[in-house]
Amino acid sequence: MAKKRLLIIYYSGTGNTKMLANEIAAGARAKGVTVRVKCVEDCTVQDLREADALAVGSPTYFSNVAWQIKKFIDESIALYEDKVLSGKPVGIFTSAGCRRDAQQCLKMLQLAFAYHHSMKLIEPMLIRVDGEPDEQAKANARAYGERIAEALLSR
Ligand SMILES: Cc1cc2nc3c(=O)[nH]c(=O)nc-3n(C[C@H](O)[C@H](O)[C@H](O)COP(=O)(O)O)c2cc1C
Repeated sequence: MAKKRLLIIYYSGTGNTKMLANEIAAGARAKGVTVRVKCVEDCTVQDLREADALAVGSPTYFSNVAWQIKKFIDESIALYEDKVLSGKPVGIFTSAGCRRDAQQCLKMLQLAFAYHHSMKLIEPMLIRVDGEPDEQAKANARAYGERIAEALLSR
């Protein structure tokens, strides 16, 4: 049987969200899942269609997602009518200056993917806060990748 495919999509201005994306990938790969990591600007709606699970990450900008992520969310309306993403696991993550604002950004991602696209949200969602030691943030991200993979493999 073909291995299950996790697509990790991120935008990152200064590298923090990208670091989380790569560590989530490492965690999921360790569980035996096929993982692709893509910057949102290289991502297409077809990529979403082909994935068995998603992880989506954005830096927190003004308590929201970066516009590059919002643009892609809007493009994903092409999959909405046919419920292409419905029931697939989704992990959501952000890097932010403070935890309170990060929660707002995660809420936006949760609304798009869990509420509107009816994906299965893997909780608790992942937050990295500026100033947190990289080793701690990486360990949290790897553990989140493992949880996403476990949800995918148990489908
Ligand atoms: C345009 C802009 C807006 C930001 N707005 C917020 C914000 O509202 N709340 C917050 O906690 N951090 C905010 N930050 C800080 C970033 O979320 C934080 O530095 C994050 O780690 C950046 O992630 P990145 O390295 O993946 O780009 C902002 C940064 C920028 C550049």
